[in-house]
Parts: sequence; C-alpha cells; structure tokens
Amino acid sequence: MDKVLEVQAEALQAIADADSLQALQDVRVRYLGRKGSIQALMSEMKSLPKEEKPAFGQKVNVCKQVVTEALEKRQTELNELALINRMEEEKIDITLRGNDLHLGTTHPLIMIQQEIEDLFIGMGYKIAEGPEVEQDFYNFELANIPKDHPARDMQDTFYIDPNTLLRTHTTAMQMRELEKAKGQTPIKLICPGKVYRRDDDDATHSHQFMQCEGLVVGEHITLGDLKGTLEFMANKMFGEGRKIRFRPSYFPFTEPSVEVDVSCPFCNGKGCSVCKGSGWIEILGAGMVHPHVLEMNGFDSEKCSGFAFGIGLERVAMLKYGIDDIRNFYINDTRFLKMFDRFD
Ligand code: PHE
Repeated sequence: MDKVLEVQAEALQAIADADSLQALQDVRVRYLGRKGSIQALMSEMKSLPKEEKPAFGQKVNVCKQVVTEALEKRQTELNELALINRMEEEKIDITLRGNDLHLGTTHPLIMIQQEIEDLFIGMGYKIAEGPEVEQDFYNFELANIPKDHPARDMQDTFYIDPNTLLRTHTTAMQMRELEKAKGQTPIKLICPGKVYRRDDDDATHSHQFMQCEGLVVGEHITLGDLKGTLEFMANKMFGEGRKIRFRPSYFPFTEPSVEVDVSCPFCNGKGCSVCKGSGWIEILGAGMVHPHVLEMNGFDSEKCSGFAFGIGLERVAMLKYGIDDIRNFYINDTRFLKMFDRFD
C-alpha cells in the first residue's frame, strides 16, 4: 500500500517538474505506459493474498486517476505556456518600415497605345488585332502591292518563306478586316500592334516598332472626315490648339495619299529645334482607301469610300516625352522605364 502512495507521490513530483510537453509525455509513458510503474503495481497484485487484492486494486486505480488528472492539468498549463512563448517570439513590430516592393510600370508605348485606343473608342471605333507573322497576301497583295510592285522596296521585309513574313505595317490587319466584312459597311476600326522592317537600328530607326492604323469605310466618307478626325486626335494627344497640315504623298493602298504634319506643340508653330524651325512636325501617313483595294476586298467603290491612316507610336511617344533615341523603348533599362511610373 505504501508503495502505491510512493509511486503516486513520485509521479506527481515528476509531473510538476516536467517543463515541456515532451518531458511530460516521457513522464506519461514512464508511469502510465504499458511497461510503466503503475502498470507494474497492477502486476504485483497477483502475488498478494486474496483478501488484500480488492483494497490494493482500488488504491492503484485511485493512483492511476490522480496521476492522469495531474498529467492533463499540467498539459493544459504547458500548452498555454507554449502559446504565450510563441506569441512572444513571433511578435512583429508593425511600426518597422517594410521593404519597398517595386511594381512594374506601364511601358510608355503601351501608355500611348492606350491613350489612342481610348480616344478612338470614344468615337465609336472598334479595336482589331491580328498576327505579327503574316501572309504576303494580307501584308502586300490585298493592299494593292503585287509581287513586282516597286513599292515593296519602301518596306524592307523580314521574310520567313516566300509567302510568310513579319508584317511590315498594321495595314495587313486592315486588309483582314476588310475581307472579313464581305462588302458590308460601315467599318470603323483601329489596329494597334508591333511591326517589323529590316532597318539598321539607330537613334531614329528600329527593326521592330509599333503602329496604330485607322480605317473607316462607309458612304460619303471624304478627305474632310479624315482631316477632322486627325485634328481631333492631334488636339487630344498634343494639347489643344494643334493644327493639321496635309502634304501630298504616295502609298499604294490610298489615293490620294497624304503625309500629315501637326503644328509644333513645343513652339506653337513659331519654329524651334524640335521642329527644326519649320513649325510643323510630321506625324503620320494617310489617305483615301484606294478604290482598287475596296474592289479587291469585295466592296463597291462606286457606293462607298473610306479613309485610312497609320501613326507610329514611338514617334508620338518621343515627341510627347522628349525622348531622343528610339532604342530607349527596347533596351529595357528600368531607370528609363521607371520615369513613366504613374504611381511614383
Ligand atoms: N502603312 C503605312 C506605313 O506603314 C502607313 C499608312 C497607313 C499610310 C494607312 C496610309 C494609310 O508606312
């Protein structure tokens, strides 16, 4: 009987001394496990005289219960302690300054593209996009530039095979849209995107650049509509008060064709270094869609007409932000790109 009390006292002491959950678990095994001290007491019962067995058994059971309860209580205490310790250790100082995570910025060319898109969506245009690897047929043939046409020399082309190329202008996309319309008007769309030409890269040339072309086909569309549209665009892009000037030019897919100048936004037309003293800056090519292009695409050129224009996005961005080297757009120097961070 004394032995039971001895084991119990020993166990309670060990429980009180256990200072971690692991230590407590060891105590549990040592006393309550299959080979533990309390189990050993049970086995001792066998050797006792019959009349002593019930009292001894009861005593061992009480011991077992006392020890179990003490273990549970200590376990709750240690759990709480562990939690307090963890909270202490993992405490974060929310007043500490965090790391600056640099978010990527919108590329200046994309900014210009979005600006142009917004402007034309506002006028009811839709946006058309298409493949950069294009068929000769859409890039040249449908645009009134057959195989032996000298105008093919105007655009040095990257050919993939004799019928496949990297599109030299987004006009290819306009041809796809014209073909898709199957002679139905009105058509009012812009095609922004990358184009490619075999140029040696320098401050003003890049073998890859971006264009946004516009196309309107319908009844009674005139050169006046083109001029009004471009004037509106120039005012939105370069500030109010801009004027537009048409100079005769040549593109195989438009007739008449024009080169379009905008009055210099830097000197208001008086003449400065940007406009080289002329007061005007050339920004795009345009014209009335050639009747032959309309006919080739299934439109009746007696009943409908259209205008088209093509603007280089780099040129606009360079003028707008005073950038003097086109290569800046393509070398991915983050110091350059970060200047256009709208959230900085
Ligand atoms: N496709 C012409 C170019 O890339 C631009 C242009 C488009 C001219 C539409 C007239 C009409 O140079």
